[in-house]
Amino acid sequence: MSRRRFLALAGAGAAGLTLTSCSGSGRKASPVPPDGPEVMAAEEARRRAGATIRDLAITAAPLMLDLGKGVEVQTWGYGPTVPGSEVRIKAGDVVRARFTNGLPEATTIHWHGIALRNDMDGVPGMTQPVVAPGTTFDYEFTAPDPGTYWFHPHVGLHLDRGLYSPLIVEDPAEPGDYDREYVVVLDDWTDGLGQLPEQHMADLRAGRGPHAAHQAGGGPHSDFLNSAGGDVSYPLYLLNGRHSEAPVEFTARKGERVRFRIINAGADTPFRVALGGHQMTVTHTDGFPVEPVTVDALMIAMAERYDVTVTVAEDGVFPLMAVAEAKADEAMAVLRSGAGEVPRSSVRPAELTGRILQRADLIAAEQVRLPSGRPDRTYGVSLGGGDAGYVWTLNGRPHGQNEPLDVRQGERVRLDFENTTTMFHPMHLHGHTFQVVNPGGTPGARKDTSIVRPDEPLSVEFVADNPGQWMIHCHNNYHQEGGMMLTLSYVTNRPLDAREQASPLGLVCDWLGVDVG
Ligand code: C2O
Ligand code: CU
Repeated sequence: MSRRRFLALAGAGAAGLTLTSCSGSGRKASPVPPDGPEVMAAEEARRRAGATIRDLAITAAPLMLDLGKGVEVQTWGYGPTVPGSEVRIKAGDVVRARFTNGLPEATTIHWHGIALRNDMDGVPGMTQPVVAPGTTFDYEFTAPDPGTYWFHPHVGLHLDRGLYSPLIVEDPAEPGDYDREYVVVLDDWTDGLGQLPEQHMADLRAGRGPHAAHQAGGGPHSDFLNSAGGDVSYPLYLLNGRHSEAPVEFTARKGERVRFRIINAGADTPFRVALGGHQMTVTHTDGFPVEPVTVDALMIAMAERYDVTVTVAEDGVFPLMAVAEAKADEAMAVLRSGAGEVPRSSVRPAELTGRILQRADLIAAEQVRLPSGRPDRTYGVSLGGGDAGYVWTLNGRPHGQNEPLDVRQGERVRLDFENTTTMFHPMHLHGHTFQVVNPGGTPGARKDTSIVRPDEPLSVEFVADNPGQWMIHCHNNYHQEGGMMLTLSYVTNRPLDAREQASPLGLVCDWLGVDVG
């Protein structure tokens, strides 16, 4: 983090100077502070009388982890397992989580995809101070929407350790027309086996590794992504923390309907997912329901979630494959409905190359579709960089130098992403679930993370109904760390009071390690 700018801004606030945006240009309006009255009013509106309070204790700490196949690694996790133990609540519940940082480095928790109160969003230097080693932070927020979510740190490359857990928000009104449910968490793994994430980043900045090969026009290519699969080569890929040669087994009976909630917790890897001998019906993405679509396979980029339902075809043992796209390795589980041998991890069921889900196949279910309307405000978001030095940009500059996108509460906002790079980028918006604009301007899925391919624009719309300061960023953790972030800034004409002006939170643009020179 750029400490100098942090202090300078805090000092300017304390001295009562006019607040300015990070680029230094004057602003008439002030940013809504992350704990401002606007934020508290939005939280108040979400909170139901008599809501259940879910008290949690979450500790991040070093651990030894058994990945199966005799592979043990030293890593960091949320508790004794990776993924960390699942948090399961009901929509409308209040999460009250005491977080203890047992790591040797400062960190935070970000509750990915939840439309929560801004000061609980876990963005250090913007919505909260970092949680120093040996200290605690109390998170408390209402989780308003049902669905499949997850949480992870929002500092540096901590996400590429074992720090991630599923957060399942059950729908009290869920029809529940399935017999069993399993949560499937995918990850790309280097910690304790190959290099540390920070060493991969140093290589990338020095022009070494798969990214350099791709920039030079070589290396594996994904037709689906129109891009390489990623910038880092990983020694292993995991499904629910297991090596593909020691897979977890999910059990079900022939004829049963099984719901899989699939989460990609990887830092740099999209996975192509299929279940041997079965088709999958996609019912939700990023927590929100869609009109069901039946496919053979789907691509899940970093931080995306897909919920699918399958009907178990017969007695047997079926590979649930998650092949690392354009990386030639895999994560795997098996679905067991009868006797039989566990398939080899080298199997590649035909479904993987069958009908693959396309973004335009998805339409938000009617009950979550945005009312039709015209945007009050439209911003272009241009994705760039990735050249020498591994600096990635949004709107021409890395985070800390780019201009926040100002919005006002109640507006309908459109973002037009365009990708000038040679890589795909899963773009994520905090605190909101946008609606993809499908071809012809028709409504697509509600999502919080969506792939933007090279040479292919993507537009999304959302209602600015959750005031505060929010990140828009690429969920490739290395691109994010390389600067590919931008602030969505709710602004107000209300004069900030002295305490608000003195607070550095919400006013700081560059908590990343980007050297702005
Ligand atoms: Cu999972 Cu800033 O995000
Ligand atoms: Cu990216």
